[in-house]
Parts: sequence; C-alpha cells; structure tokens
Amino acid sequence: MSIKAQISVLKETVTGEARVALSPETAKKFKGLGFDVVVQSGAGDLSSFSDDAYKDAGAKVAKTAKDAVKGADIILKLRTPSDDEIKTYPKGAKLVCLMEPHKNETAIKALAKQGVTSFAMEYVPRITRAQSMDVLSSQANISGYKAVLDATAEFGRAFPLMMTAAGTIPPAKVFVMGAGVAGLQAIATAKRLGAVVSATDVRMAAKEQVESLGGKFVTVEDEEAKAAETAGGYAREMSKAYQKKQAALIAETIAKQDVVITTALIPGRPAPVLVTKDMVKTMKPGSVIVDMATSQGGNCELSKVDKVVEVGGVKIIGYSNIPSRIAEDSSSLYARNVFNFVGLLLSEDKSKLVVNMDDEIIKASLLTDGGKVVHETLKPTKKSAKAAPKKKKTPAKAASKKKAPAKKEAKKS
Ligand code: NAI
Repeated sequence: MSIKAQISVLKETVTGEARVALSPETAKKFKGLGFDVVVQSGAGDLSSFSDDAYKDAGAKVAKTAKDAVKGADIILKLRTPSDDEIKTYPKGAKLVCLMEPHKNETAIKALAKQGVTSFAMEYVPRITRAQSMDVLSSQANISGYKAVLDATAEFGRAFPLMMTAAGTIPPAKVFVMGAGVAGLQAIATAKRLGAVVSATDVRMAAKEQVESLGGKFVTVEDEEAKAAETAGGYAREMSKAYQKKQAALIAETIAKQDVVITTALIPGRPAPVLVTKDMVKTMKPGSVIVDMATSQGGNCELSKVDKVVEVGGVKIIGYSNIPSRIAEDSSSLYARNVFNFVGLLLSEDKSKLVVNMDDEIIKASLLTDGGKVVHETLKPTKKSAKAAPKKKKTPAKAASKKKAPAKKEAKKS
C-alpha cells in the first residue's frame, strides 16, 4: 500500500540558518512511499540543493512558504516556526522540527491553538531503535568535526609534526573538554590532522572512548566522579568542591595547550564555565579556543556568541550554529533523521498517517495535539497556574491542579 498525503518543506527563516529539512535523496524516498512532496523555492539553496535537484527527485517546487504549506499533511522544518508562519499552517497538519521547547513556549502554544500536531526532534529518546532519528547526535558529530577545522583556520601553525629541510615543526597540542558525541568527533578529527590530543569529561565512561581514539584522558578521579553520569548517560551538575578541583587541573593543563575545544553541556541547565579569564591569560599568544557551547551560555568566560574575539593574543571562537557552517552534510543527515521519524507516523500497512501514543518515541516527542499542549514537561504546573491571573478555569488548568508534571529525561540505551 502507499500513502496519499502531502509533505511540505519550508525555507528556514531564522537568520544565519543554512540548513534545510529535506534533501533530494529523502524527497525521492518520500515519493517512493507515495507522498506528494512540495518544497518552497530556494529552501535548499544554502545547502547546495537546487530547486531542480528537488524536481528531479519528484518534488514540486512552490513559489512562497504560503503556497508550500497549502494542503500539507506533514510540514518538515529545522528551526521553530515564527507565530506568523504558524498562522499559515493547515489545521490538523503535523509539524516535525527542532523546537527547543523550553525556549519557545509561545510558539508551542500557538501551534496548539492552530490545531497543529507538533513533534520536537530533540525529544526523541536516545534508545537503540531511535538512533537513526537522533538529530542531537547527527548534528553534534558534524559540529565536532567543523570545530576543529574552524580552529585550524584561526591557528597560525600547522597541526601535524612536519620534518622539513628547514627544520622540524612540532605537532599542535589540542585539548577537548567534554567527550560526548561532538567531543569524540573533535578528538578523532584532530588526531587525523596529526595533533597530540588530550581530553576531559566528568563522566568516567568517556575515558575508554577517548583512549580508543588515541587521546589522553585528563580528569579529577574522586568519589563524586564515579557518580557523575546520570542513568540517561548525561553529565550531572557537579558540586562546588569538585568544580574547584577540576578548575585547578584544567588551569594546569590549559596553559600547555595550543588549541582548546569546549563542548561541555548539561541538559536543561546553562553550560558549565570551564575556561575562566585567568586561564585564558595563561595560554600562549597564537593559541585558539573554540567554545562550542555559546548557545547555552558558553564554557569560556570570554567567548562571544557568533564572534571570534582576541584576548592577549588568544583567539576565542564562539560560533553558535556550527552545523549550519557545514550545511550540506548537516542537512543530509537531519533529512535522513526526519525521514526515519516520519516512518513512525505511518500505519502498519503504510496507507495512513497515525499518532501512535503506544510508541515511546512518539510519546516522548509529541508537544501539541488536538488543540492542546500535551507534553508532560510543558503543561502548566500547579505553581504557574496559581501565578496566572484568575480567569475562567480552562480544562488545562483544571488538569494541572490534579498533577504537577515531572521533568523527564531521555534514556540512553
Ligand atoms: P552533551 O552534548 O549533553 O554534553 C557534552 C559532553 O560534555 C558530555 O560528554 C558531558 O559529560 C560533558 N560535560 C558536561 N559537564 C562537564 C564538565 N563540567 N566538565 C567536563 N565535561 C562535561 O552530550 P552528548 O554528546 O549528547 O552525549 C551524552 C551522552 O549520551 C553520552 O554518554 C553519549 O555516549 C550518550 N549517547 C547515547 C546515544 C545512544 O545510546 N543512542 C546516542 C548519543 C549519545
């Protein structure tokens, strides 16, 4: 059986966003399932996907965003839509995108009001079955690679050891802070370029991974470090005492580095400050820091969002949207993640669109449905309901009186 439904894909409107949610490859795959695919003209331009490439894959190209969403059953995007955009979405359409839910409550309410069923790709749980839909990993992987290349572009020296007739150039020393998906890719990339690499993380599980890539693991090994990893595989916020020990070790390590790449994040919390002003002062002129966490407040005290600043001869790179700087590959991977996710919205015989709440991936990522905000972490809490001015009791408020939502954390397989 094949499906009779329309998938619409829009050009991103957030400034500086070069990615797109559909590639010609996934357009073809959607066509193969029976979907009509409509792409807004120019949507893939900044990812090197031309309108013609989409047409060759069987998609129709619509002139404007409004034309593209007309009759849409599923809308694919990368970034949260604006309120004006949401007003053009057909009632009952399904939206799949990166919603940054806790920053975008207004947009989420607007989606509910518009009758759009929306899914946040970043809420897809990190379970084995969902690995092919894991946008956090696909985008972090690309970012880790690009961060190293960004460092090489600002670094006035070479990365590998070079023996030339004019003498020997020593290899660059690269220190990666945070050895998650992005950090591990940064380690692998810097190693491939011939650097001497070391890395740190609060999760002791990262030690083996760093070492298997040829990096040296540097960390504070104490009782607290043994419990630094949550059941979900993420880092906890560490105690003040641990942070002090960690800062001393980092200060000593950083002074000897040529390049520092920071990737440390804690879900739902501001990024931890790992590189202070004083630590930057100890680095040699010509050294480079890439702060990959600027969108969450930054790991370096001196980094500036989307800027390269120079302090005492040390260049600090603060690009906040690194995947967009390597848009073709980021878009291709995101588009595949989304294609795999849409597969979950098909009935067993692949002839109908369904929202199967028995599927833990759907349940975890569904934000709005049936005119309401349905995600547990986004429903109004007892506290917020009390703080709100007393008006007529809405069903949502009445429901929140019964049960305050518990914050859920994605599981790691
Ligand atoms: P992330 O982007 O949340 O954080 C980046 C790294 O920073 C993490 O390794 C974290 O431990 C580290 N970090 C946090 N605070 C720090 C501090 N104060 N000092 C030093 N490092 C600090 O992490 P990401 O890349 O999303 O990975 C999180 C976990 O999820 C890892 O265990 C990873 O292996 C796991 N994972 C599991 C998947 C699966 O099973 N399907 C898929 C992808 C990741």
